[in-house]
Amino acid sequence: MKNERKTINIAIDGPAGAGKSTVAKRIAEKLNLLHLDTGAMYRAMALKVLRLGLTPGSAQDVLPLLPETDVTIAIVDGVQHTYLDGEDVTGIIRTPEVSKGASDIGVIPDVRIKLAESQREFAKENDVIMDGREIGSFVLPDAPHKFFVTASVEERARRRLLEMHEKGIGLDKDLETLKEEIAARDYTDSHRDFAPLRHVEDAILVDTTEMTIDEAVNEILRHVTEQA
Ligand code: DC
Repeated sequence: MKNERKTINIAIDGPAGAGKSTVAKRIAEKLNLLHLDTGAMYRAMALKVLRLGLTPGSAQDVLPLLPETDVTIAIVDGVQHTYLDGEDVTGIIRTPEVSKGASDIGVIPDVRIKLAESQREFAKENDVIMDGREIGSFVLPDAPHKFFVTASVEERARRRLLEMHEKGIGLDKDLETLKEEIAARDYTDSHRDFAPLRHVEDAILVDTTEMTIDEAVNEILRHVTEQA
């Protein structure tokens, strides 16, 4: 018989580089939830399109691929693995090219509908904290806990630069270039017609510009506990 227990769902939305995933991961550990980073799914879809030499923002290129494309997620020892047609692509979807491709492919409604379906399924079966752009507005509009995590473009670019230097990638990029890339991604994500990035009224705003990760985590935990 199917388990009818209601699952715990926390939605975290916000622009690129605001710290959503880092914060969500910590909260998942503290509250014993699974963390689903939905951006990884858009990245995997974009990777497929780019590998084929096609354009992620072109519905004409992307739509024929949808029925034959399988993007799945597994959480192994607390770490999310993303699979594209059965291949573990976790380690190769973090390049700037794939970031832009993911933002571009997210404009296509059918892509969003397909990915949102499996995200909803995941939330029905698991206690989850899910981060993305439209989790509280479109994927899980009834989630009891919703947060909009943001930070200034300057701060997000600065963090991204630090992270890239730590990983030894994108060493040719300067802060100004990163700022422009992030601002361009913000624009695409928040101006698409279908399920854009936006701060819905019932989501609590957490501006992390001047916060440490611990402070942001504690702020969210405080609200979740209060709302419980
Ligand atoms: O969260 P991220 O930076 O890994 O996401 C990469 C891109 O994927 C983001 O710029 C827009 C798209 N995306 C989306 O459209 N909807 C989501 N729920 C998550 C990501």
